[in-house]
Amino acid sequence: MKIRVLGSAAGGGFPQWNCNCHNCSGVRKGTVRATPRTQSSITVAGDDPAAWALVNASPDILTQFKDHPDLQPARAPRDSGLAGIVLVDAQIDHTAGLFMLRESTRPLALWCTDAAYADLTGGNPILRVLGHYCGIERRRMASSGEEFSIDGVAGVRWRALAVAAKPAPYSPHRAAPIAGDNVALVISDTASGRAAVYAPGLAAIEPALWSALQSAACVLVDGTFWSDEEMLTQGLTVKRARDLGHLPQSGAGGMLEWLARLPRDTRKILIHVNNTNPILDEDSPERAALARAGIEVAWDGMEIVL
Ligand code: MLT
Ligand code: MN
Ligand code: ZN
Repeated sequence: MKIRVLGSAAGGGFPQWNCNCHNCSGVRKGTVRATPRTQSSITVAGDDPAAWALVNASPDILTQFKDHPDLQPARAPRDSGLAGIVLVDAQIDHTAGLFMLRESTRPLALWCTDAAYADLTGGNPILRVLGHYCGIERRRMASSGEEFSIDGVAGVRWRALAVAAKPAPYSPHRAAPIAGDNVALVISDTASGRAAVYAPGLAAIEPALWSALQSAACVLVDGTFWSDEEMLTQGLTVKRARDLGHLPQSGAGGMLEWLARLPRDTRKILIHVNNTNPILDEDSPERAALARAGIEVAWDGMEIVL
């Protein structure tokens, strides 16, 4: 099984079009040692490298496909290796790219929870709009850990676990999240039994997820914010990481403390990194702290083979 990171940044990407924070202006001017990143998405391939699942359809999807020409097997005048799409939530950074797939010659096979489906046919009716183009073939994804597979992606088994997070602002229950608004995916190689957990949005680490993280070979977890007040202190918004449904890395109960409790040989990767996060600056003390803790920062093009 091969996981490829297409986009490692959070919503807005890095640099973000209207942002002049330390990182965004520094990477534009070349004064900060950092690598630009596109918005949040991975692919997963099993036995057949020419059949892959897309997890999250980022607004940057067309650039991501261009950056990875091997994703196009070119077996027919109209072709793609895209076997199915899995969504971890209904947020814009994970769904706006669906519009860019409207030329598909068949309905898009789409796995999502009932909560995400309701938001994508209600508050932000992307799926209804797509019905006027290629349409979708919706596959119901439970958020209580039932196993499923993606037709065509042989050798890979999937499970979705409801996680603590916030649904998008256009969700009628933004202020009162429900199970399935956001899931973590446990993605396993059938032959080796080795699993990766992909959880780009996490407000807290609850028992079911913690148990999945402990038995995974690799964890790709919410790397959005270093500190709760990072956007506040940079004068960008009045919102804290926790207001937005993201557990910060530093501080008591933060992601670093959780990751330190995982087995030493677990590969630990932060993903969905916001452009304000100091870990993007490769010369920052925060990035050095990650290196000391054996934690990697995902980058566009990173591959994980399990
Ligand atoms: C999030 O992860 O909190 C959202 O995707 C934010 C956004 O809309 O960009
Ligand atoms: Mn997001
Ligand atoms: Zn910025």
